[in-house]
Amino acid sequence: MRVLVTGGAGYIGSHTVLQLLAAGHQVVIVDDFSNAKPTVVNRLETLASQPLTVHAFDVADRDRLDALFADPAAPIDAVIHFAAFKAVGESVAKPLDYYRNNLGATLALAEAMLRYDVRHLVFSSSATVYGESAPVPMTEDLPTSATNPYGWTKVMNEQILRDAVVAHPLLRVALLRYFNPVGAHPSGQIGEDPAGIPNNLMPYLAQVALGRIPKLSVFGDDYDTVDGSGVRDYLHVEDLAAGHLAALEWISTHDRPLSVWNLGSGQGTSVLELVRAFERASGREIPYEIVARRPGDIATSYADPSLAERELGWRTTRTVDDMCVDTWRWQQANPHGYPS
Ligand code: UD1
Repeated sequence: MRVLVTGGAGYIGSHTVLQLLAAGHQVVIVDDFSNAKPTVVNRLETLASQPLTVHAFDVADRDRLDALFADPAAPIDAVIHFAAFKAVGESVAKPLDYYRNNLGATLALAEAMLRYDVRHLVFSSSATVYGESAPVPMTEDLPTSATNPYGWTKVMNEQILRDAVVAHPLLRVALLRYFNPVGAHPSGQIGEDPAGIPNNLMPYLAQVALGRIPKLSVFGDDYDTVDGSGVRDYLHVEDLAAGHLAALEWISTHDRPLSVWNLGSGQGTSVLELVRAFERASGREIPYEIVARRPGDIATSYADPSLAERELGWRTTRTVDDMCVDTWRWQQANPHGYPS
């Protein structure tokens, strides 16, 4: 298949691109490089031993999308849509930017797909759609909600696509709800490269281990969890990328218009357990202090991934230790992320 990957230079997109190529698919990347460095593409080309087709524009640009979909020499068969703003705190400060960017991209893309009769779409959703008070393990049939504008863009994009498949029943859409993606490509050449000080735990831990940040702040030790710190379902980005290939294959061979799958390990790991695992992986001590809870955080989040296992034959295979080892390899090889 020729697969259009929006956000293909980003963290999850780049890992997925490599797996698509390894599986024999052709890939067309659209990325505006607002949160990715062009050097990612060079690394991907080296790892895949082939040149890549990359278009540097914003997915909301209808004219550029039209030109791409209209090219008779390179017809698009399916789309994986990663491109979006993703920082929770920033979304609270700039909600209109988040709604315009994250909803505008999906609308432009879905409209272009309809115009050019492209029927298969895999959409990056998030476990954040389960909101604040969902019971664990979280199943796909729980009601959706959100606590911040970023989360609402995921809920709203899901709704846009649900409505689109009703009106256009030939569409085949997968909504993939990721839990907490971490880790890096085993080569150490591709990984997560957050701009500035990381918001998320794993990249923060990696920078503390490296000595770039003096210590970790653990946001609360008074949750009702195994050790009082927050519990999350971490999954290796390589497993997550494999989930996209499995979902794409499934929607291409089945007739259900809309599919929703949790992609998680089903296992909860606390902040303090992850600190210990990272210490083992890096051989370095991680200094930390307990501070107040972070507003908006929940105590515990982990998936019931059994639907994806049953339908897609997909499950995670990498352990939390693997995730830490691969993150550490990437971080050591790229202490300042990708070169500009
Ligand atoms: C966060 C987002 C979520 C988004 C996901 C993307 C929030 C509230 N949620 O999930 O919407 O989909 O990232 O990956 O931002 N922690 C610390 N110290 C830190 C950083 C985190 O103790 O410096 C703790 C948090 O309290 C939490 C756990 O580590 O218990 C994981 O946090 P994080 O990596 O930010 O992910 P989520 O909050 O689960």
